[in-house]
This record gives sequence, structure tokens and C-alpha cells, in this order.
Amino acid sequence: MNKIPVAILGATGLVGQRFITLLANHPWFEIAELAASDNSVGKKYGAAAKWQLPFEIPARLAQMSVLPCDPHAVQAPLVFSALPTDIAGALEVEFAKRGAIVSSNASPHRMGADVPLVIPEVNPDHLALACVQRKKFNSKGFILCNGNCTTIHLVLALAPLHQRFGLKKALVTSMQALSGAGYPGVASLDIIDNVVPYIGGEEDKVEQEPRKFLGKLNGETIELSDIRISAHCNRVATRDGHMETVSVEFETKPQLEDVIAAFDEFRGLPQELALPLAPARPTVYRREPDRPQLKLDRDAEKGMATIIGRLRECAVLDYKFVLLGHNTLRGAAGATVLNAELLYAQGELG
Ligand SMILES: NC(=O)c1ccc[n+]([C@@H]2O[C@H](COP(=O)([O-])OP(=O)(O)OC[C@H]3O[C@@H](n4cnc5c(N)ncnc54)[C@H](OP(=O)(O)O)[C@@H]3O)[C@@H](O)[C@H]2O)c1
Repeated sequence: MNKIPVAILGATGLVGQRFITLLANHPWFEIAELAASDNSVGKKYGAAAKWQLPFEIPARLAQMSVLPCDPHAVQAPLVFSALPTDIAGALEVEFAKRGAIVSSNASPHRMGADVPLVIPEVNPDHLALACVQRKKFNSKGFILCNGNCTTIHLVLALAPLHQRFGLKKALVTSMQALSGAGYPGVASLDIIDNVVPYIGGEEDKVEQEPRKFLGKLNGETIELSDIRISAHCNRVATRDGHMETVSVEFETKPQLEDVIAAFDEFRGLPQELALPLAPARPTVYRREPDRPQLKLDRDAEKGMATIIGRLRECAVLDYKFVLLGHNTLRGAAGATVLNAELLYAQGELG
């Protein structure tokens, strides 16, 4: 079988490194090009990347020369973007105009009216927006986004509840790992013995993106869900995995065991289609009183699931619970690859 050649933009960064490990032996995609900043261009990938993962860089990729993030230098028809926010907006449009399908992990286009913002288990139908961009760009290219790393796990937990019972409100407080800030990220003296109660732009993303994920496709637009979310986002001195404490209010309060059943039974198109990176269970409910825990649970289901626990009555809203998700896997590169797998399975990649 001929694999689809793919490029990684921002390949040397923390998310880029996760792309490398997820795509190195992928059954449908083959890494053909790696691109990064001018600091890395022309170097061998193995020398340019400050490798952070406990696996060797695959030998073929370590020897590859790093290209500039330029749509004329990078030719692959499918491009995975882990570009920094400040340059992703304009560059991703250039790639889409030259005909590339851009599966992006960056934030600038997520809330764009004609941009599908997709979690394949939750809103695969939103992919229909691609045709609006294709018309606009007069190209076969378009941009497809995954959500913010905290938002994806929140939405994976809220979606089964919203689908079954209807949700009105959620209050969420996050404890977010250092790898969420990229490499080298937060200075060590700013975070050792500390919790920083501010992550620029994060609370707005966590409050707004779920309204699009949980919104309804109506022709060529998305009607945003009117769920109201209030978020506090904190940086904590952990390495990988974002933990969130969540309180929710329903349209009609269900029984506690029915909420747990909704988490236990939640499945979607990735499981039905057996996409290569799909977790068997996208939401895993742990019944022990002290789970989920970062070290024990973040890698469950290959880092592609949201682990939930401690569901109990809330004195202010209806119920409260804890969730945990891997931020650079399901919260970033894993989400971007799963979106591309959905495109492939639906015949969008030719
Ligand atoms: N880390 C996470 O958990 C996470 C989760 C969700 C979303 N994201 C988003 O994913 C993107 C990447 O995050 P990251 O954590 O991987 O960041 P990172 O570790 O700082 O990596 C940034 C990457 O972008 C490249 N780059 C920097 N400036 C560039 C330029 N002017 N032109 C071309 N390439 C440039 C870097 O190349 P050099 O090595 O050559 O400098 C590197 O490959 C960001 O938009 C971030 O917000 C991250």
C-alpha cells in the first residue's frame, strides 16, 4: 500500500516530537518532510531537535535535513502543524492555498467560522465546513483544527453527558503540566515550589472552544452551543498531563449511576472505524476514591483517553468530578493525527 507523504511543521518542538513518534510507523502516513525555524533549517533533525522523549529518534528521521516552514519548500499534500501561535495563522493559510490539507494543533484558526474544530468522537460532522474553505481558497487545501489541550479533555468528559442529559453550565479548575508550555517553557525558578495561577489566553479558550465542539452544524455554519463555562487555569510543576476539577449543572439532573454509565459507554466514529490511533475507550471512569492520578493514569489507552473519577454530588451545581488527560498526546499531536485519520477513513485524502 502506498502511504500518504506528510510534513510536520514545528517538528523540533515538544508537540513536533510527539508527531514523530506517532507517525514514524503509521500504517497510512509516511513522514516525508520536517520543518522548523531558521535556527534549525539545514541541520539534520537529530541535531536540531532537543529531544525530550524516552525513545530513540528513528534513524531515518534523525538523518533528515530540516526545511523552512515555507509552502513552496514543503511539498507534502498533508501537513501537520505544531507552529507557534504568532506565525501559525498566516502560514497555515498559505499552505492551504497551495493545496495542502493542514491538520493543525495551533490556536489561531480554531474559532474561524469556516474552520472545522473537531474531536472525532464528538463532532465529526463539522468536517463538512472544509468545502467552504476550499471554495474560498479555490484550492483542494483547507485547515482542520483540534482544540486546546485542556479543552479537548474537558469536552471528551462533557460530550457524553451533554448528548444524554443536556448540560447547562460547567465550572472547571485546571492544574496544567509544564510540557503544555512547550520547550524550554516556564523558567525553573518560576515554577519550582510554586503554582502559577495564570496561563495567557487559556481560560478564554477553555470557555469558548467547547461551545463550538458541542455546537450544531447548520448548512455551512456552526451554531454555538449555549453551554456556559467558567474556567480557572493554573500551571503546576508536573511534567505531562493536565488535571481538571469540574462541576456541572444539567437541564434535568440524572441519577449518579446514569452519569457513570454515560462515561463508561461513550464511543464514537473512531472506535467504529477502528482508526489506528483511536482509544478503545475515549472516556475511562475509575471507581477508586483516589483516582485518576497523573503518574498512574495519564498513559492509559496510549495517552488518547480522558480519565475521569470521583463523581459525587456538588453543593452548588449538580455533580462534580475530576478528570485527567495527556496534554501532548490526546491534548495535542494525538488529536491532530486522529483528525487526519478520520479524513483518510472518509476518503478526503484521495
Ligand atoms: N505543548 C502542548 O501541550 C500543546 C498542546 C496544545 C497545543 N499546543 C500548541 O502547539 C504548538 C507547538 O507547541 P510546542 O509545545 O511544540 O512548542 P515548542 O516546543 O516551543 O516548539 C515550537 C516549534 O515551532 C518552531 N518554530 C518556532 N519559531 C518558528 C518560526 N518563526 N518559523 C518556523 N518554525 C518556528 C520551533 O522550531 P526551532 O526548534 O527551530 O526553534 C519548534 O519546532 C503551539 O501553537 C502550541 O500553542 C501545544
